[in-house]
Amino acid sequence: MRGLWFLAILGLVAAEDGLNAWLRYARLPCNIVKQAAVPPNIVALNATKISPIYVASQELQKGIKGILGKSLNVTHETSEGPSIVVGTIAAFTDSGISIETPELEEDGFWLSTKGDTVEIVGQNERGALYGAFEYLSMLAQANFTEVAYATNPSAAIRWINQWDNMDGTIERGYAGLSIFFKDNALVSNVTRVAEYARLLASIRVNGIIINNVNANAMILSDTNMAGLAKVADAMRPWGVKIGISLNFASPQTFGGLNTFDPLDKSVIAWWTGITDKLYKHVPDLAGFLVKANSEGQPGPLTYNRTLSDGANLFAKAVKPHGGIVMFRAFVYDYQNLNESNWKADRANAAVDFFRDLDDKFDDNVVVQVKYGPIDFQVREAPSPLFAHLKQTASAIELQVTQEYLGQQCHLVYLPPLWKEILNFDLRIDGEKSVIGSDILSGKRFNKKGLTGYAAVVNVGQNATWLGTHLAMSNLYGYGRLAWDPTVDEVAILEDWTRLTFGLDDTIRETITRMSMESWPAYENYTGNLGIQTLTDITGPHFGPNPQSMDNNPWGQWTRADAFSIGMDRTVKNGTGYAGQYPAEVAAMFEDIETTPDDLLLWFHHVPYTHVLKNGKTVIQHFYDAHYAGAETAATFSVQWAKLQGLIDQQRFDEMAFRLTYQAGHAIVWRDAINEFYHNLSGIADAQDRVGKHPWRVEAESMTLRGYRVTAVNPFEVASGLRIVQSVGNSSSASVSVTLNYTAGTYDLAVAYYDLYEGKASYELFLNDKSIGSWVGDNEDRLGFTLTRGIDGHSATRITFKGVEIKEGDVVRVDAKANGRETAPLDYIAVLPPGVVD
Ligand code: GCU
Repeated sequence: MRGLWFLAILGLVAAEDGLNAWLRYARLPCNIVKQAAVPPNIVALNATKISPIYVASQELQKGIKGILGKSLNVTHETSEGPSIVVGTIAAFTDSGISIETPELEEDGFWLSTKGDTVEIVGQNERGALYGAFEYLSMLAQANFTEVAYATNPSAAIRWINQWDNMDGTIERGYAGLSIFFKDNALVSNVTRVAEYARLLASIRVNGIIINNVNANAMILSDTNMAGLAKVADAMRPWGVKIGISLNFASPQTFGGLNTFDPLDKSVIAWWTGITDKLYKHVPDLAGFLVKANSEGQPGPLTYNRTLSDGANLFAKAVKPHGGIVMFRAFVYDYQNLNESNWKADRANAAVDFFRDLDDKFDDNVVVQVKYGPIDFQVREAPSPLFAHLKQTASAIELQVTQEYLGQQCHLVYLPPLWKEILNFDLRIDGEKSVIGSDILSGKRFNKKGLTGYAAVVNVGQNATWLGTHLAMSNLYGYGRLAWDPTVDEVAILEDWTRLTFGLDDTIRETITRMSMESWPAYENYTGNLGIQTLTDITGPHFGPNPQSMDNNPWGQWTRADAFSIGMDRTVKNGTGYAGQYPAEVAAMFEDIETTPDDLLLWFHHVPYTHVLKNGKTVIQHFYDAHYAGAETAATFSVQWAKLQGLIDQQRFDEMAFRLTYQAGHAIVWRDAINEFYHNLSGIADAQDRVGKHPWRVEAESMTLRGYRVTAVNPFEVASGLRIVQSVGNSSSASVSVTLNYTAGTYDLAVAYYDLYEGKASYELFLNDKSIGSWVGDNEDRLGFTLTRGIDGHSATRITFKGVEIKEGDVVRVDAKANGRETAPLDYIAVLPPGVVD
């Protein structure tokens, strides 16, 4: 105890690993606690331990103890005197407590802190639990204002999609192995599953699909159904229903039938039987998620049936049980896309497939549409399919997992990106049709079924849930926006920061500033003007590889040649995609004059010399944006460093490491993209920066011992186009150089490549004095998809700050190869203060 006091006096905070995320319930400072008045009792109007109301009362007790240090009793009987009462409208009425709440919709709640009693009233139990979390969020942020309001969800579907495989790996997951699956079965220990449900309930998520859309039919085995029941039991008290992804061919591959034709009687009977059995294990199963005829997955088109035939097959099976089918619109034929055909365009696929099916879906089918027509790119035009589904219910698919957006190794706060889409007005039939508040809310059309949101959230076993602390604002933000797509992205961030790191203004301002700068910065140093992310499209989707963005069968193309770049998606001359939007929007994108710059290359093919609205040429904008983006990224670790001592050491150190990594990788991106387009276009950078690195010493020009010079493919991921690798696998080697800089304080950066399956070790010396040592162990410290190659994914940089250097000093790196890692080195940068290179 004394130790804790001591820490508190010093202003130090106990280490935290992130497991509690935004539900830390950290004690408020004494002077603030004094201002808080909470009733002394909690009355939970349901005594059943697995009910969300009961859970809410436990959460209130735990939270208030943590935040204010007050121990409250929980009872289940109403009593005289002030209390926090939590229950459904029906339970309040049954208990004889008169409440005057406005109309509440499903999952909605009423929260009143007026007077000496706190009323938390849910339309249903889930809503009451949400209300309890809301009250705790206020207290944790020292917000003791008197409130009395009702809030209802913008949409009924607020789901998560985990892409967990049954072997325990996670597709596009960057936070370790699955918390749901292990060794081709459901886990038996559901502790983390329940903790996840708690987090989800606190952001008002009400459903989760727990297995990968690229689904394994084995999930339907008897043992796995029993496992699903256990997972559902763990999540149910938190109001989170589970659902599963199905493999369309299951009747054949798992059921032993000779067909999976959706209109075949034996197939229908098989799915009906399986579904009935599933509902015996999980009576409140939310439903199914189906990826069909996409990226090699089986589907109804195999039998010349329509996608609606496929969706309705499942819809009919779950209908008697009250379930729904989320049918993905991400359908395209990836084998028959040929870039030599000017009119070919994967972006057209979803509307082409679904346009004529609008009146064909059963009322419990929801078509789940990715926010853009391609695939979670750094900037996309909103999917035009939303405008074509007037009768069919639809949901938007967002991606919290940062597949194309830095894989949780780059800070990228996503709500601003999502809000660009959610705020977009599609002007359907010439009327206001804002994607979030009009379409996904179900208000714009008289749709048949439920509408809403799904987010790919690849939480894993890592204590931080997503692999890194700051990425959690994206999960938090997702829940907030699914509830209310109009909520301000800065307000979301500020709430999240206070809940995650405390009330300190410097912390809040710093994290808000960095986060708000992060998506624009990432867009700047990856792909600009709507050209897409420019990552390795046929590989891990992490580092730069612009040439992979053409001539690939996936249909993600830039059509860049020596003179021009961009996808011509106009009706008059291109793929016709612009014409998939309602008239007013189509006209805007058809015309290069009215297309916003940030989507220019999404819609138009132009010469590199085309002048943008900002007065720059396309190519100069590319160059400038990449320099600007890397410069902004470099400020993140500097801004973060100012939080030392204000944030507990563990979270501080873990973020400091990642932000430093990001600063280095942003330069890898910057240089690769600029070199590539400089080489392709032959057009000089007006500021003469591309390929010029006055503060770098290339490894290939140093004195080498045990190292040899090698070329790299793709060429643009190495400074000076070449690198050095040690000769022989485990020999020790070194590079050294005599520096020629005027005396002063510099940052010393070393660029190297960190591969999977190998942990080379390095030590940096200045005149034989060790400056620092490190190991190529990104595979243990960062969760991105590692490669075995020397490329844009493995390119890494370490920086030692504030090194005193004088003319004639000798810098040396000693290295020891390990496994696949030949201790590859690219360059050393000797950077004066303020120089980003
Ligand atoms: C992307 C992603 C795949 C995923 C697919 C999908 O292509 O890279 O891993 O399976 O989207 O959403 O189905």
